[in-house]
Amino acid sequence: MTHVLNRRTFLKQGSAGALGLWAAPGLLRKAPPSDRLRVAHIGLNGMGLNHLNWFAKLPEVEIVALCDLDSNHLAKAQQTLQTLQPDSRAQGYADFRHILDRKDVDAITCATPDHWHAQVAILAFQAGKDVYGEKPLSFNVREGQQMLKAQQRYGRIFQLGTQIHATDNYHRVVEIIRSGAIGKVHTVRLWKTGFPPVLGPANYQTPPDSLNWDMWLGPAPYSPYTPERCHVSYRYFLDYSGGVFQDFWSHIADIVWWAIEPKGLKTVSARGEQPEGIGDAPKWIDIDYEFDDLKLYWTSTPPRVPGAEKRHIGAYFEGDKGTLICDYNSREITINGITTNDLSEVPISLKRSPGHQQNFVDAVKSRTEPESGLAYARRMTLPMHLGLIAYRLGRKLEWNDRREKFRHDAEANALLSREPRRGWDLT
Ligand SMILES: NC(=O)c1ccc[n+]([C@@H]2O[C@H](COP(=O)([O-])OP(=O)(O)OC[C@H]3O[C@@H](n4cnc5c(N)ncnc54)[C@H](O)[C@@H]3O)[C@@H](O)[C@H]2O)c1
Repeated sequence: MTHVLNRRTFLKQGSAGALGLWAAPGLLRKAPPSDRLRVAHIGLNGMGLNHLNWFAKLPEVEIVALCDLDSNHLAKAQQTLQTLQPDSRAQGYADFRHILDRKDVDAITCATPDHWHAQVAILAFQAGKDVYGEKPLSFNVREGQQMLKAQQRYGRIFQLGTQIHATDNYHRVVEIIRSGAIGKVHTVRLWKTGFPPVLGPANYQTPPDSLNWDMWLGPAPYSPYTPERCHVSYRYFLDYSGGVFQDFWSHIADIVWWAIEPKGLKTVSARGEQPEGIGDAPKWIDIDYEFDDLKLYWTSTPPRVPGAEKRHIGAYFEGDKGTLICDYNSREITINGITTNDLSEVPISLKRSPGHQQNFVDAVKSRTEPESGLAYARRMTLPMHLGLIAYRLGRKLEWNDRREKFRHDAEANALLSREPRRGWDLT
């Protein structure tokens, strides 16, 4: 017997409950259309096309709408969807607010540039949609606070798009660190190598007809159009993002917050260099963070520790009994001078992920916290913003962790938020 439940009940109970746990995997894969989660994708270039490809493969998902304010990108995404799902009747939109007006959209994904993340998510929460939103969580600290408040107020599910969180390697690193095998961790070193591309001088021009440049800027300060400020390379401008550092922080800091959740941040100081050309996010940046009982360092070159040089991104945990170095896919543990990839005595204690996007779908249906939920993502992302503020001001900053304010520093506190451009505070 197959129980056919209405959509609301299904979303409350989750698919396993609805179909019965005895249902064969084949049956689960062929969920009837009414059991589907109806998803819309917003922002459809680099990462957004990944969202489209990933969610299109999930049997319980129906893609019902696509949105991009560049009509060329929207058209390309529509073609991609036609290839993946020739029967798709998903509608295309230039303005995401029309998607939020639709009652037949359950969840959205957001892969716009960083300066749009918070408003898209907050408006989606207000409209009763759940959100799979790209990293970094928000453009600044204040936006992260507003997102959390709105999520709690409207009772929505949010997953941060840190897909590496779902890997077996990250789960295993967390198990090993939490087991105490390397002792109490007192120092962590994070790094990401690589410089931004050299952008050259500004090339101001009329925006292409395909692009709504005013909306692309949205809450960010006005600038005349120059291609470097827009698609892909926007990430090298502090008006929209924070360079290589901000691009990669969430992926590698994630393993630190998951494994040991640093607490009681006290000070932040940073050094770096301006890039050549019109970008202004740092070409490289090194940051020192002091927590209650932990020192955390970010560098743009590998630290001088065994195993770092061969990794372009990584985390190195120093405990009082040993060390662990890892990147997205590999790890090495060194205890008493012996290096190994695993410790058989550490039991498997964490449930493995069904995949980051499937985990989101499961969380939406069961109304439970996904693996990279908003409250967690906010705690993990906050020091990233503070590091960039310390770089911009060029001095050591003292942080009041409880109040989420810098101590006695109005200039630094002013950089925790930004007034949206006139007419572009949509929340
Ligand atoms: N999780 C990851 O591994 C990963 C990898 C790359 C990028 N990202 C994140 O994804 C986001 C997008 O990065 P990208 O490299 O794809 O950028 P991109 O510039 O290539 O694409 C962004 C797209 O969003 C569209 N857009 C901008 N504002 C919009 C709005 N208000 N409404 C609708 N569409 C809008 C643009 O027209 C463009 O097509 C960034 O936040 C980035 O940090 C995550």
